[in-house]
Formats: sequence, C-alpha cells, structure tokens
Amino acid sequence: MIIDILTLFPESFSYLNSSILKRAQESEILKINVLDIREFSKDKHKKCDDYPFGGGAGMLMTAQPICDAVKSVQKENSHILFPSPTGKTLTVERARELSKEEHLIFICGHYEGIDQRVIDLLKPEEISIGDYVLTGGELPTMVIVDCISRFIEGVITEESLSEESFSCGGLEYPQYTRPQIFEGLEVPKVLVSGNHAEVDKWRREEALKRTKESRPDLIKDNN
Ligand code: ADE
Repeated sequence: MIIDILTLFPESFSYLNSSILKRAQESEILKINVLDIREFSKDKHKKCDDYPFGGGAGMLMTAQPICDAVKSVQKENSHILFPSPTGKTLTVERARELSKEEHLIFICGHYEGIDQRVIDLLKPEEISIGDYVLTGGELPTMVIVDCISRFIEGVITEESLSEESFSCGGLEYPQYTRPQIFEGLEVPKVLVSGNHAEVDKWRREEALKRTKESRPDLIKDNN
C-alpha cells in the first residue's frame, strides 16, 4: 500500500518511521510519503491560510495548495481521507476495509479548518478518531495510518490481530511476562500451569470481566 500524507507540518510524522511501521516500510509492504502542502502554494510568500469569509475566529487553510498537492499524487485507484471531528468515527471494520486499498491520500487540516470547496471538489472520506477536537489533522492521521497498517498482511501476525481488543467484540485479557514475582505481585498460577485448556478458559473469563467493567456497551446481551 502507498500512503501519501499532505500536511503543513511534515516534521510531525517521524513516529511513522519507527518500530513496526518502519519494519513494514523496510520490507516494502508499505510506503509512506509525507508532502509539504506549502510547497504547492502559488502565493509569492507560500501562504496557505487566510481569514474566513463572514468573520469568525482564527484562520482557514486555503483550497489551492491542498488541491494542487492532491493532484500531484492522485491516481485512478486513490482513496482520499480527511480526518475531521465531523466525520464518521473510525472502527475496526472500517480500518480493515481501508487496509485493502492500494493508495490512500490523507489531507491534514490545521488551524480552524479548511475551505469547504476542498471537500466539495475532492469528496474525501471524512473520518473522526473520537468525540473531541484536536489542534490539527496530524495526530488523527497518524492514529488512522497506524490502525490501518496493522491490518495489512505481513505487518503483524494474524495471531496478534485475532486475540486483541475489539477483534472478537470485547477487550483483551491481561498479560504477564518475567519475572514471575514483581514487587510482591505474582503471575496468576494458571498461566504457569502448562494446562492450555485452563489458560484459554482463564483468558476468556478475564476478558469478559474486563469488558463488563470497562466497556459494557460492547457486550451484545448486556446481562
Ligand atoms: N481533527 C481535529 N480533531 C479531530 C478528531 N477528533 N478526529 C479526526 N480529526 C480531527
């Protein structure tokens, strides 16, 4: 998959070049390009923002640099995304679907937002990461890219995906590693018993207990 990220703050994206996503890019499963929208501005001072018509707080990103940046990378198979609190909230199901796309283009808004004509012309999928407002689309883009990338074949193991929170509808069970006793707290005996059936049963029970406590809304039959 190729991901092109269009932003006024390219330096924010170094996180995507570390750890698991770094490995995915090294093995050419994934290619992430970050483009500076400012370079596409036709303004002599490379200005990319202006006051909103009708007045109001703050500045808006102008349409021209964004549209030209998109045109520079858009192909027939491109899917354009615009992270925004007004979009539909990202779900595991949508992330899985998006992981099948060949080319994603992310438009990162900043300041008070972007000129509506970018949306009207390019018709991006507006997507939210939750009911709160952040200062720009950079962090949401990283969250969405990270979430989608994990579902691309070869990025992480199928086993990790199948056992994690939300994959089976609920939350994941607690996990422990060495040492067996830390600060007086012992690893649950069943996990070192060698009895796989008992381990599986304990994990199912703990996962359900956690889900009931933290996210009862995820349990279909809420009893
Ligand atoms: N931009 C600002 N806030 C956002 C949010 N909650 N989700 C996606 N993009 C955003």
